[in-house]
Amino acid sequence: MLGVTGGIAAYKSAILVRHLCNAGAEVQVVLTQGAAQFVTPVTLQALSGRPVRDDLWDPEAEAAMGHIELARWADLILVAPATAHFMAELAQGAAPDLLTTLCLASDAPVLLAPAMNQAMWRDAATQRNAATLAADGKRLIGPAEGEQACGDVGPGRMAEPEALLEAVQAAFLSPRLAALNVLVTAGPTREALDPVRFLSNHSSGKQGYAIAKAAAEAGARVTLVSGPCGLPAPANVECIEVTSALDMHEAVQARAAEQALVIGVAAVADYRPATQALQKIKKDSAGRGAAEPPAIALVENPDIIASVAALPNGPVVVGFAAETENALDNARRKRRRKGLDAIVVNDVSNPKIGFNSDHNAATLIWADGEVELAYQGKETLAASLIQHLANLFFPSSGEGAGAVAKPTPLSVARSGRS
Ligand code: CTP
Repeated sequence: MLGVTGGIAAYKSAILVRHLCNAGAEVQVVLTQGAAQFVTPVTLQALSGRPVRDDLWDPEAEAAMGHIELARWADLILVAPATAHFMAELAQGAAPDLLTTLCLASDAPVLLAPAMNQAMWRDAATQRNAATLAADGKRLIGPAEGEQACGDVGPGRMAEPEALLEAVQAAFLSPRLAALNVLVTAGPTREALDPVRFLSNHSSGKQGYAIAKAAAEAGARVTLVSGPCGLPAPANVECIEVTSALDMHEAVQARAAEQALVIGVAAVADYRPATQALQKIKKDSAGRGAAEPPAIALVENPDIIASVAALPNGPVVVGFAAETENALDNARRKRRRKGLDAIVVNDVSNPKIGFNSDHNAATLIWADGEVELAYQGKETLAASLIQHLANLFFPSSGEGAGAVAKPTPLSVARSGRS
């Protein structure tokens, strides 16, 4: 069921209906009164092949399929766009119209794609409602950041229809990594110069933590080996905190043999200072004058995921490549050079998906195929990545004990293997 509420992003709902139908879904569109100001029921009926519902009090429609029956019919409810007003009603459990009533009456998972002006999204009341809805088990996808129809720039754009399709598909897949051991590296490493100084990088750890969370949600036993980034460990994930590349290497090596899948998301320092001073380096230490800057000699760190990939009968190994030029070509070469089964590349020269952003866009590359992971939140991108890796490398896992019976998965039309 696709709920459409009254925001300008409603024009994208038509494309979304098209994507969902092409992927094999039966789509029942439910419009609010506000939505009907932006898109016509005729457009959405033509695209979905079903009469659009928009009225709780329509005796004819109610006679054909009453709202409770309709609520039971839905395997999943996606509300896109979800306005601030709609989110406020849903957070309160209010049911003044058909769509809110259906959301309340249905046991199906509810996904929401918030879309509104950036100031409305940042408003304390909206943030409170978003947190309430998330705590109630609703999944929020987006909003994305960028230019808005009103001319503002900021968070509030509806996630793109392609990203919403991916989130819907991911929600239909069963726990595909059930009972598999998965290890994820995340965050930066710190390479000490002396007891108070280190070399490091801007990695926030957000993407790695989101991937560990998504793997755990897909049923895996997840170990997260994390450099210092101050994020809380996701639920059901064993977190091992490390500082330097050598610590991370040791922690990963000790656990590599028992893993089915290792995903290297950490931004590991390629080099470390050749020596680590035991005492704080003073301006005039070692006979240098204060005016003479010290030279830092560096030595290479071990390549953590390349060493795992080199293990005989080792796990499936997936790397990340943050590139600033020739992203795809560099990543294809990097995958082969490190002996990886797959690599996820993102172009970090794009400021919208930089190290500290909550969003990302990437391409997953494996030996005989590539797939784009559209611009979206790091959490939904992580869920989509995990489903692709499960399809590619563990096609038969998760179908036995522990797999939750779900409605028929939508087909995933992709290049190469699917
Ligand atoms: N990586 C690793 N150990 C290292 C360096 C990198 O495990 N010492 C992993 C990262 O976690 C990531 C992948 O290798 O999954 C790619 O890292 P990147 O820094 O892009 O690759 P480099 O080999 O350092 O290549 P570049 O010359 O582009 O820096």
